[in-house]
Amino acid sequence: MIRTAVVAAVAGHLPPRVVTNHDLALRFDTTDEWIRARTGIARRHHVDPGTTTSDLAARAGRRALENAGEEQADLVVVATTTPDRPCPATAPTVATKLGLTGVAAYDVSAVCTGFLYALHTAATAVQAGAARRALVIGAETFSTLLDPSDRTTGVIFGDGAGAVLLRAGEPGEPGSLESVHLGSDGTMADLITVRGRAAGPDHGDAGPDDPYFRMQGPQVFGAAVRHMTQSTRNVLDELGWSVADIDHLIGHQANNRILHAVTERLGLPAQRALVNIDRVGNTAAASIPLAMAHGHDTGRLRKGQRVVLTAFGGGATWGAAALTWPDLPRL
Ligand code: UT7
Repeated sequence: MIRTAVVAAVAGHLPPRVVTNHDLALRFDTTDEWIRARTGIARRHHVDPGTTTSDLAARAGRRALENAGEEQADLVVVATTTPDRPCPATAPTVATKLGLTGVAAYDVSAVCTGFLYALHTAATAVQAGAARRALVIGAETFSTLLDPSDRTTGVIFGDGAGAVLLRAGEPGEPGSLESVHLGSDGTMADLITVRGRAAGPDHGDAGPDDPYFRMQGPQVFGAAVRHMTQSTRNVLDELGWSVADIDHLIGHQANNRILHAVTERLGLPAQRALVNIDRVGNTAAASIPLAMAHGHDTGRLRKGQRVVLTAFGGGATWGAAALTWPDLPRL
């Protein structure tokens, strides 16, 4: 029997503390106008001390299981750049917090593309019959990685988690992941880094002890536009879809200007890009599942619509996936 991996539920969770642009203007030499104009962000959420990535991930995962009316998953994959600690992985902690005793659980590290990489590995396990239900969670506490003196990264990133429950299904069923393309290029490794925990002598200018997230913003911007556009074209070509067939492009919410540039290059009307960056900021691996949950909760994503997910992140890594939106339960 040929199996596919079908999206059975989506859910998001944001920590309660809201940080507005005005709050940040008290901390950095910046303004609400600059942040809105250059990024599209109005507010983001930050965790309070003591709240971990696994806490956020478990909340989103719990909600996805509840939305699907399920209690069990036999695989938990967590995409994160901000694990609870360098070792061991965060996913087993999340599985335990969800009461999923003994299930397979592992982390995936691909920064802002992490969710698509995690989705691919989980979908492959479901297709192969190695898992019947898989929870794929993107979760981040990026606020804990930011240099308190760096206004560029300080205004962009937010915390949160998004989860997708995959189940085994039949080819052609709405919700089946129909095409996934992933890529990477290690020559761009220096564009996005946290060097503090790196081993070896070559730590660059920031030095081996730099514990903070560093990003070469304008270079990342250009590469993100190029690779998100090309990845989207790759999945369209594989499926024989045209650009006009895309009802919603759910791009990694890094910067609203990146989303605009990608739709412009594709020739897609700008309103087909689903945008929630204004309320959550850039939540890295949590970004795409949070946007999916936002689209579902607001009724924008409807059964039968064609959806393309695409992201670019550290590594560099990039990717895209396509599906026809299923009829998902709404609690
Ligand atoms: O999520 C993973 C992938 N990440 C991304 O895709 C992020 C991609 N990059 C970006 O979104 C943008 O590059 C940023 C939002 C990070 C920065 O925006 P930008 O338009 O590329 O700004 P820039 O770095 O070219 O800086 C332009 C000016 C500079 O001032 P001068 O040198 O022109 O006087 C910066 O110092 O803007 C200044 N600036 C700021 N001004 C006020 C940078 N950050 C701020 C700020 N507030 N927060």
